[in-house]
Amino acid sequence: MSEQQPSSPPQPPPEAAPVGPYQYYQHLRDQQPVAQLEADGPYQVARHADVMTVLRDHTTFSSDVSLRPAEERAAPSMLFSDPPVHHRLRKLVSYAFKPGHIEAQRDLIHARCEELMSKMITQREVELVEALAAPLPVVVIATMLGVEEGDIRQFKHWSDTIFSNIGDILFAEPSAEVVQAGTELDAYFLERIEELRRQPVDHVLGRLVETETEDGKLSDEELLSFCRLLLIAGNETTTGLITAAVRIFHEFPWTFARLQQEPNLIRPFIEECLRFYSPFSATVRRTTCDTELAGVAIPKGALMLPLIASANRDERVFENADEFVIERDPNPHVAFGFGIHNCLGAHLARLEGEIAVASMLSHLRSIRFAQGEAPEPGQLGGPSSLRVVLEAA
Ligand code: HEM
Repeated sequence: MSEQQPSSPPQPPPEAAPVGPYQYYQHLRDQQPVAQLEADGPYQVARHADVMTVLRDHTTFSSDVSLRPAEERAAPSMLFSDPPVHHRLRKLVSYAFKPGHIEAQRDLIHARCEELMSKMITQREVELVEALAAPLPVVVIATMLGVEEGDIRQFKHWSDTIFSNIGDILFAEPSAEVVQAGTELDAYFLERIEELRRQPVDHVLGRLVETETEDGKLSDEELLSFCRLLLIAGNETTTGLITAAVRIFHEFPWTFARLQQEPNLIRPFIEECLRFYSPFSATVRRTTCDTELAGVAIPKGALMLPLIASANRDERVFENADEFVIERDPNPHVAFGFGIHNCLGAHLARLEGEIAVASMLSHLRSIRFAQGEAPEPGQLGGPSSLRVVLEAA
């Protein structure tokens, strides 16, 4: 802790106005809370209550959004399936994401974070995504899936390629680059799966290989589907949480000073970061029948975009929604979704966020964007690069 701390906790400046996409979200919430902005386009859902309605009602708003014919689809993943398939898939891995199991990884995550941080603080100006925000979650998921240390860089490359083209994968023709990344990833994991069948190891993939279901053991395709999902769902989002925390430190430097004085506020700080700059800014559903939302008639088969980042700034639910309130309580944000698809990795993401922030607080006196850095907030998963200037403690 610094010696020249003020006796009263640092406080936020009084007024705040929405910037970037948040201004647009406010317009939608006030003027067009459920709207199809282009003919044949998706219906954007901007208010908290309506986003909750869509996420809660998985019978009307299906997660099986792809229109590809069944024969062209890979094995279903829980994120893009409905019950009963969804429940079956989620049950198979949910043990690994329970709070106790995740808490048991605290020391490992802490050690990985310290390794990255000790390299990072040798420089004054660093690219944060490359130095910390991307490698930390990749290493954690890679370890859960039994990826060897030497293969992690390659694993991250596949993850980046697939995630940055997620829209095309679902709705259009995936590019040659994505197809290649997917093929290489599959080949890599098929080898690991074969090894695990010969010699079992106790990690998430090892356990899945051993799992007996009523239909017997999981097929190669089902196992690959889990690997792809964890890779896609868990990496960029957590990277986005870490860059969101640093964006807050840059925009509201009082938060850094306040957390150094009161580290017990790190948890609510992370929750407020998730609300304020939601890394998973929107998700997608498809209607299974003609329906109605907030008075707007929506036909069967329509694509819906629940705007999570907008719901989390809804002034109907959050007092002073455009202010960053470090100890906001209650904080009913939907950054991890809601309903049956609520984020399976939420405990893990929170733990990684807390450890990364605690590490910055203990090693640094300040962290801010480098001159000229002005990445737009609100991008899915956060910026792909962010240069920051560090002042070591
Ligand atoms: C800050 C980081 C994260 C955020 C903001 C986030 C956000 C979300 C959201 C909003 C959903 C629901 C999507 C929907 O309803 O369509 C979701 C689902 C999911 N997330 Fe996360 N996530 C994060 C980190 C992680 C991590 C670290 C993992 C695992 C390693 C993970 C695994 C999953 C899985 C498997 C699902 C699908 C659950 C289901 O369909 O039942 N997430 N996440």
